[in-house]
Amino acid sequence: MLHCSPFVSPTVGSARVCRIGLLAVASASILQRRGFRSLAAAAASLESEVEEDFTPQSGEKKRLPHTPVLVRQFLEHFEGRSVKTFLDCTVGAGGHAFEIIQAHPELETFVGMDVDPCALKLARQRLSDLSGSMAKVDLFHANFKNMKKDLKERNPELLERGFDGILLDLGLSSMQVDAPERGFSYYLDGPLDMRMDSSDVLGLTAEAICNNWSAAEIGRILREYGEEMRWKFLASRIVDARLNGGIKTTKDLASVVGGRFTSGRFKRARHPAARTFQALRIAVNDELKSLRSAIGQASSCLAPGGRLAVISFHSLEDRIVKYQFKELSLVFDKVDLAFMLLTTSPITADAAEIEKNSRCRSAKMRVIQRLCR
Ligand SMILES: C[S@@+](CC[C@H](N)C(=O)[O-])C[C@H]1O[C@@H](n2cnc3c(N)ncnc32)[C@H](O)[C@@H]1O
Repeated sequence: MLHCSPFVSPTVGSARVCRIGLLAVASASILQRRGFRSLAAAAASLESEVEEDFTPQSGEKKRLPHTPVLVRQFLEHFEGRSVKTFLDCTVGAGGHAFEIIQAHPELETFVGMDVDPCALKLARQRLSDLSGSMAKVDLFHANFKNMKKDLKERNPELLERGFDGILLDLGLSSMQVDAPERGFSYYLDGPLDMRMDSSDVLGLTAEAICNNWSAAEIGRILREYGEEMRWKFLASRIVDARLNGGIKTTKDLASVVGGRFTSGRFKRARHPAARTFQALRIAVNDELKSLRSAIGQASSCLAPGGRLAVISFHSLEDRIVKYQFKELSLVFDKVDLAFMLLTTSPITADAAEIEKNSRCRSAKMRVIQRLCR
């Protein structure tokens, strides 16, 4: 049974963007040997963003478990609109949920799901503070990749009516990053777990990947999900570690992956293990496939005129959102499912928000609207 930690310090576990510039010293041949077809491909990869958590400072003040990002911009997209039904596919600690329910007294039904039962517990606490809302609130444990099936089972009439607003706020909540036993942080020692669904006792873990998968498969996820230039080298280091008992903890992995790169020209990277941790987390939770499926399902759960907002935290996610939204908004020939893109470029946090919450630095929000036909 996992412990659900309710409070975190203001900075612990907040994700930071690690934007790595192109290494001037890298020659085209070295890049090619590392699996990049061209200098441009390597540059694009290095320029992409990686989520990074950061070191806990001792003695910091405790506060709420997770600070929601881009709240003002999110609410603005629903301002002046009648929102009677809302679906939060990643309810987390209930931050966005609380705000949208408060801002829309006309709300009749709010549905929130999360793959992590620990997060749901916090959302329940947070939403019990609501006053002045008559909305019926339904929170349940689910993976958003199954949203249509689950909604159909729970409330087929609601699914038939559709939602006036839907939110997908991707990635991890701060309280998940901050719990060493969840294994998401390379700064906190714990078992190498990384399952978002803490109740899925038989699910794949990062430890199983590191100790059982082939070097080729590990290399593939480091390259595709971590956009890691050193994928071949790091995959063989991970596999070689099996000769010394294998990789069991976050600290083991951080030292196997990071050991050689803490100085010299790699000093610019925030943490040398950031890309490896990102790759493993995406693989363990099958995040990109789930996201692709969720966007398609969520768009078809919108009521006419309803809006879908997606907040992403790294370039792999944002790319999926961008292209799927573009595709959806280009389809005009379907009789009753057509969409309009409301954000030609992503909405990002302003300086004041970044100052208060560095996690929002990498957040990008895109929004589409289902047309009324
Ligand atoms: C950034 S947090 C959301 C925070 C929330 N908006 C708030 O204000 O507290 C992302 C949440 O999405 C959940 N999550 C990630 N992948 C999921 C999935 N496939 N299905 C459902 N929930 C998921 C995580 O467990 C986490 O609680």
